[in-house]
Amino acid sequence: MAKFSTSVRGDRGGMREERQRQQNDQPHDDGELTVMEFLRFLALFFLLLLPVLSILFLTQKASKPKRQPSPISLPRSYPVIGSFFAVLANSNRRLQWLSDIVQLSPSATYVLHRNFATLQVLTANPDIVQHILKTHFHNYSKGANFHQTFKDFLGQGIFNVDGEPWKFQRQVASHEFNTKSLRKFVEIFVDTELSDRLIPILSSAAGTGTVLDFQDILQSFAFDNVCKIAFGFDSAYLLPSLPQTNFAKAFEESVTISSERFNAAIPFPIVWKIKKLLNIGSEKRLRIAISEVREFAKNIIREKKHELREKASLDSVDLLSRFLSSGHSDENFVTDIVISFILAGRDTTSTALTCMRLYPPVASDSKEAVNDDVLPDGTVVKKGTRVTYIPYAMGRSETLWGPDWAEFKPERWLKREEGENRQWKFEGRDVYTYPVFQAGPRICLGKEMSFLQMKRVVAGVVRRFKVVPAMGEGVEPEFIQLITSKMKGGFPVRIIERDDVNR
Ligand code: HEM
Repeated sequence: MAKFSTSVRGDRGGMREERQRQQNDQPHDDGELTVMEFLRFLALFFLLLLPVLSILFLTQKASKPKRQPSPISLPRSYPVIGSFFAVLANSNRRLQWLSDIVQLSPSATYVLHRNFATLQVLTANPDIVQHILKTHFHNYSKGANFHQTFKDFLGQGIFNVDGEPWKFQRQVASHEFNTKSLRKFVEIFVDTELSDRLIPILSSAAGTGTVLDFQDILQSFAFDNVCKIAFGFDSAYLLPSLPQTNFAKAFEESVTISSERFNAAIPFPIVWKIKKLLNIGSEKRLRIAISEVREFAKNIIREKKHELREKASLDSVDLLSRFLSSGHSDENFVTDIVISFILAGRDTTSTALTCMRLYPPVASDSKEAVNDDVLPDGTVVKKGTRVTYIPYAMGRSETLWGPDWAEFKPERWLKREEGENRQWKFEGRDVYTYPVFQAGPRICLGKEMSFLQMKRVVAGVVRRFKVVPAMGEGVEPEFIQLITSKMKGGFPVRIIERDDVNR
């Protein structure tokens, strides 16, 4: 059905395995499995977990043979394993389940018991969101768990660090992001991509009546854009006639497997660490993919450095050129930054273009408590506890959006102006009620840029075409969550060219 399916374009055979050996410059240190960790895991697994699991599993099965977990009950918790069964049973609807749990809780906040007495605070409460993202920002970091899980892929990039390394990158990047020349550069590239690639594809689909995967098309569009912005490289992902670049495939694979490490239903990092140590399965694929991504980025960096030596200045104003021109020349450092930016801008804008309040691109986001704390509703947080705020649940909250929260009502965002004309005026919600771009000191750096892109795409496409969903009657899109979220199986649409408008 999808004419340009990213998952099938090109073959994976092109990734040369020997490249995995070339990752000496990649930071692996704190993602490594230590012997002690391994032994501890085995001991715990056999001595504690396995018998407990078996007994509880058998008793559960015997008493409730065919019952599905109720979507509206709070999970049961057991000694040692916490709510393991509930987490496992809901692993294929994790986001909706977490959303249901917080909606059921009095202050929209619930403490989930994970294995070995580990706790995770889940919240959809704007006061708590403000507490962790702004007023107590210094007590809530990305944390060691997140950092370790994504370190192979993101290294020390802005998305994966806290403290001074984050502060430094944030300062440099926000300075570069706020320049007029970068804005102009983005505008020109978005317009070219729109007129030379997106519009012709839609026009052709309209002519032939082909059903397109609109999500796939917009992802390719956003990927081309963000590669150009981040390092001046045209990935030409939206062009069906060109073979798909290994870079795009390898990037997708790296995101998917790294996210699976984090969201695994069985939350033992030891599992991926053992696979990584043995270099098998998904961890082997991840190693190859990351190597491919980093090597590609480094080649571009070397070319630009060469150009800089030859010409004393760079022609392009992409972010990488700006970093290099301003004296930041360490290869690992700039590679990490570029990868973080591509990740940040890649699927977010496309998800936002297909759906927004009810399906936010970053559907849930976790922070780790640096010290003990008490949240505004009285929930006690111990040092090291993960506190997860869930924009997906917040967009569906009756308390925040009223009983008609599920309805598409653009008036939610509009207000009549005072005076004679009584024009409609945009009125945003506060960033803690609607933290889709996060909030506080780590608010999304690309917010303005993504609006610039989205407005241009909407104006360019909607003026000329009708985009009609081609899903079966009553079929609801299924939302899946990686680092960013998207619709499972894509978003099939028919394109109808308007003939009643001035172009
Ligand atoms: C609709 C589109 C977008 C949405 C909804 C979005 C959302 C977010 C969110 C929720 C975060 C916080 C993630 C975290 O710290 O856990 C974030 C961070 C970030 N975003 Fe975006 N983003 C979008 C587009 C973009 C684009 C196009 C770029 C750049 C080209 C970008 C660059 C960044 C960067 C660099 C950060 C890290 C900021 C920091 O840690 O200080 N984003 N974004």
